[in-house]
Amino acid sequence: MPSKDDKNMPIELELQKFPKKVNLKGGFSCELRPLRRTDEAKLHEFFQNLPEKERMFIKHRVNDQQVIQEWCENIDYGKNLPIVGFTDGKIVADATLHQQQGGWKRHVGRVSVLVLPEYRGRGLARALIQEIVDVSRNIGLEHVEAEFMGEQEAAIKMFALMGFSNLVTIEDYVKDMQAITHDYVLMGLQLKTDEEYAGMG
Ligand SMILES: CC(C)(COP(=O)(O)OP(=O)(O)OC[C@H]1O[C@@H](n2cnc3c(N)ncnc32)[C@H](O)[C@@H]1OP(=O)(O)O)[C@@H](O)C(=O)NCCC(=O)NCCS
Repeated sequence: MPSKDDKNMPIELELQKFPKKVNLKGGFSCELRPLRRTDEAKLHEFFQNLPEKERMFIKHRVNDQQVIQEWCENIDYGKNLPIVGFTDGKIVADATLHQQQGGWKRHVGRVSVLVLPEYRGRGLARALIQEIVDVSRNIGLEHVEAEFMGEQEAAIKMFALMGFSNLVTIEDYVKDMQAITHDYVLMGLQLKTDEEYAGMG
């Protein structure tokens, strides 16, 4: 098993398994692959198709075309790996693995996920998070974490079902894009097994 302290982790190797078609509930299928520079218009449309209320929970000004343009022009999968779900010729979901290169948290990845409302309940978020967790494990990350505002109950429940546990909850700690205060919830999943730790001695 590689460790994050090894140089040149093979994220590119991991990405060779995409595009990948996943068959989900109700005969629904979706193609998963990393975001490309040429996806800018589709990514912008994806965020436009989200309900206004949910956009408030996103950390970035995704309404701003320039923000999306910058993301697409400066893709660095070692920092941010967005895996997008395509169906009907459009982006309907995104899960991103965020990594800090160097520093205290170089062994901890962070995952965020979003699915368009009309494509929910079919297992798409679960499939995307599983991909992110698999990539994280294979490139040597030791933990994956996810951050929420307290109201994101469906997401918190889903991450718990996927094995993430609550690491910390801080009341009234974060502010949404309208400057309304919310509880902050941090969940995490340990990727290294106890056996691997035992074998490290
Ligand atoms: C949370 C979210 C990503 C779930 O997407 P999804 O594709 O509908 O999720 P899935 O179909 O893969 O659901 C996986 C499991 O989570 C649970 N779940 C998902 N949505 C749920 C809801 N609204 N209420 C209760 N449980 C829910 C279910 O148990 C489901 O498994 P099951 O259908 O087999 O019982 C989606 O609702 C979303 O984009 N929400 C807004 C953004 C957000 O909160 N992101 C998280 C921040 S990191």
